[in-house]
Amino acid sequence: MRIDILTVVPALLDGPFSHSILKRAQDRGLAEVHVHNIRDYSLHKQKQVDDYQYGGGAGMVMTIEPIARVIDQLKSERDYSEVIYMTPDGEVLEQALCNQLSLGGNLILLCGHYKGVDERVREHYITKEISIGSFVLSGGELAAAVVADSIIRLIPGVLNDETSALTDSFQDNLLSPPVYTRPEEYNGWRVPDVLLSGNTALVEKWREDQALKRTQERRPDLLD
Ligand code: ADE
Repeated sequence: MRIDILTVVPALLDGPFSHSILKRAQDRGLAEVHVHNIRDYSLHKQKQVDDYQYGGGAGMVMTIEPIARVIDQLKSERDYSEVIYMTPDGEVLEQALCNQLSLGGNLILLCGHYKGVDERVREHYITKEISIGSFVLSGGELAAAVVADSIIRLIPGVLNDETSALTDSFQDNLLSPPVYTRPEEYNGWRVPDVLLSGNTALVEKWREDQALKRTQERRPDLLD
């Protein structure tokens, strides 16, 4: 899978894809992430990518021309299953959507800035709009990194233990149970006996019970 991220601040995306699991996924050829500076596609002398909004009002709006140019160029090179605009008024990201996107093809993620993009971009180029939650970020870059991370880790072979994405919180509408590691006792705080019992069936039952309890306490909405 290939993910192309379109932004006016590419430096904001330098970090997330250069380390750990997301770097390894790319090194193994399982995912490709390409970051494009929308400014490079501006035909203005000053590489302008925004302008005042029609009708007046504070705040600049990202213009359609450079965005259209980069999307047209990418689409002429390969197929994309979605062109996604990161925006607080989009569909709120949930695990089911991450699963669906990870099974699809290549993606374009457009990061908004300023007051947003000219509505004609959304009408004519965007096929899906995603919000990562009911709060406003300074731009879509961090949200795009969240979306790309949540998708790439689901690609088979990206996680070393292939089952571990399946046992993530949310995959079965349950939160994950608590986990422990050495030492057995710290400061008088002991690891639950059942986990030291060596009885796999009992451990499994305990984990299921804990997952259910935690979900009931913290996210009862997931059980509806
Ligand atoms: N851009 C600004 N805020 C955002 C959010 N919550 N989700 C996605 N993109 C955004």
